[in-house]
Amino acid sequence: MTWFETVAEAQRRAAKRLPPSVYSALLAGSEKGTTVADNTAAFAELGFAPHVAGLSGKRDMATTVMGQSISLPVFISPTGVQAVHPDGEVAVARAAAARGTAMSLSSFASKPIEDVVAANPQTFFQMYWTGSRDQLVARMERARAAGAVGVIVTTDWSFSHGRDWGSPKIPEKMDVKAMLRFAPEGLRRPRWLLDFARTGRVPDLTAPNLAEPGTPAPTFFGAYGEWMGTPLPTWDDIAWLREQWGGPFMLKGVMRVDDAKRAVDAGVTAISVSNHGGNNLDGTPASIRALPAIADAVGEHVEIVLDGGVRRGSDVVKAVALGARAVMLGRAYLWGLAAGGQTGVENVLDIIRGGIDSALMGLGHSSVHDLSPADLVIPDGFGRVLGV
Ligand SMILES: Cc1cc2nc3c(=O)[nH]c(=O)nc-3n(C[C@H](O)[C@H](O)[C@H](O)COP(=O)(O)O)c2cc1C
Repeated sequence: MTWFETVAEAQRRAAKRLPPSVYSALLAGSEKGTTVADNTAAFAELGFAPHVAGLSGKRDMATTVMGQSISLPVFISPTGVQAVHPDGEVAVARAAAARGTAMSLSSFASKPIEDVVAANPQTFFQMYWTGSRDQLVARMERARAAGAVGVIVTTDWSFSHGRDWGSPKIPEKMDVKAMLRFAPEGLRRPRWLLDFARTGRVPDLTAPNLAEPGTPAPTFFGAYGEWMGTPLPTWDDIAWLREQWGGPFMLKGVMRVDDAKRAVDAGVTAISVSNHGGNNLDGTPASIRALPAIADAVGEHVEIVLDGGVRRGSDVVKAVALGARAVMLGRAYLWGLAAGGQTGVENVLDIIRGGIDSALMGLGHSSVHDLSPADLVIPDGFGRVLGV
């Protein structure tokens, strides 16, 4: 793989390399795409106020999140990366480990938690509220036995499926019929096809981390059906799950101040201010707009992470300046994975690290811990205060 210099270039390579259905599944978004667009647009509204002399020659980026030391305030957000690359989440985990940061594994991921923890011991296991309480605990205990160092529970999903630009048709199973149907797309993307052909396998559209002990992994859609049929969690359920885990625990998808306070009451270690990358309830504002009010309200009591729209190191610096301890990457690393497997993800992390370093330098800071809102040019009306 030849080095790429920006995440935008990784995205262009992903678009060229992946079959259109797979690429479109990564782009995701929902309804009109208002939220997914605002996630990146909002970062562009924030500016910097750089210095020209008296700058620091050394910049420190290390921090901790949910008890894990990470070499930069960035780690991997959980995504179901079905069919992007044969090594899937294992490649992502290895890249994160090579760059000194943590991995999060989606329960809809294509690789078993055991293989992912072996690739990166700093792995958090992400769960949706699906199945019975016994099933939830069994999956969590499997993750614990595998060595997962924290749990992320994502409860913001509202099963919104329509997209004005159309959704990709993903087969239930990669059987012969599906392969024939997708053959023309695959043939137009020979390098992607070759990557899978070399492994002797077809993309496996199953969710091995949702399997019952001793039974085969459910198909992606089988698992999705179970999820849709599960009664929705209450705040007591969240507190119960956190207690069952007993270790570092994140609630992902918080956008409102009142919910952030309830999450603190439920005893979580961390929250991610997130709108699920704009794939969910369209019309939700950019997560970065909701961050300052949430950081003000609960920043003393809980670790705050942000995800949504991060494409550059300077975006990370903006989020940290507005009160995030770290950010999680979604599409940025998926595009890197598509462009070049593990090396592509490492390339993305290096781009982000370089961008953080430049921004810290320009702002005259020697550490990410010195960032504050005073480093930013924040236009009037930028923030959104939800749930007050
Ligand atoms: C293709 C795709 C699949 C995702 N799957 C999951 C998932 O399984 N669990 C989860 O908590 N979040 C999931 N997300 C949301 C991401 O973890 C993250 O919140 C979001 O991608 C951040 O926005 P960004 O892509 O703009 O960085 C997914 C996002 C994408 C793009």
